[in-house]
Amino acid sequence: MEHLTPKARTEIENADVIVGYGTYVKLIQSIIKPTAEVFSGTMGREVERAKIAVSKAIENLRVVIVSSGDPGVYGMAGIVLEVVAIEKPDLPVEIVPGVTAATAAASKLGAPLVSDFAVISLSDLLTPWEKIERRLEAAASADFSIVLYNPKSEGRIEPLTKAYEIMLKHLPPDTPVGIVRQAGRVGEEVKITTLKELLNADIDMVTTIIIGSSATKVNNGKMVTARGYDL
Ligand SMILES: C[S@@+](CC[C@H](N)C(=O)[O-])C[C@H]1O[C@@H](n2cnc3c(N)ncnc32)[C@H](O)[C@@H]1O
Repeated sequence: MEHLTPKARTEIENADVIVGYGTYVKLIQSIIKPTAEVFSGTMGREVERAKIAVSKAIENLRVVIVSSGDPGVYGMAGIVLEVVAIEKPDLPVEIVPGVTAATAAASKLGAPLVSDFAVISLSDLLTPWEKIERRLEAAASADFSIVLYNPKSEGRIEPLTKAYEIMLKHLPPDTPVGIVRQAGRVGEEVKITTLKELLNADIDMVTTIIIGSSATKVNNGKMVTARGYDL
């Protein structure tokens, strides 16, 4: 709750209708207006949620669609704008930014993202695996720090193993890797390890992984990417 921006908080508090994935709606339950209508749903029903939200907004209700982190980073902002473009192109829509998992995780690990970094989702539900693989190859060969979202879920283990193999083709096995579960939430876990040991860590769908670049070191338990300053 303390990382919810004041702007997001105000919008939630003033909403007539709240639409969101059940887990996220629960996290903000305490600030939802008692009279607000709440539509919470399961993962994978994003299009349905966007359509409900847009139909309620067309009725002139003040609607808030809840995403985790930043709604514009693998969040609901895109699908909502796509539905609006079809249903009512002149409907006013505001995207309220938030703290995305990449920066939340980076802050727990130290300062791994102070230089150029690439962000890649390992979910092949909406993106073909061949494209993800190309992006992994490109980022690893270009010496970015790399943030991996959606690294693994119960039924989806292979993409992480494949990503690990691609990384090892380009990066030394002792490259620092940070693993953050449930950043900023109850049950938060933070671990710094090496690329070689990546697959031995506890990783699930609420985990974000940050793989260092050649400029990333571990100093006193913190990952730090050197920007090149003379010290
Ligand atoms: C569909 S994406 C949503 C990202 C979200 N919109 C954001 O900006 O953080 C879901 C992925 O985000 C990451 N994630 C979301 N919340 C997290 C948290 N509290 N701690 C660590 N990773 C998180 C995980 O990699 C998860 O698989």
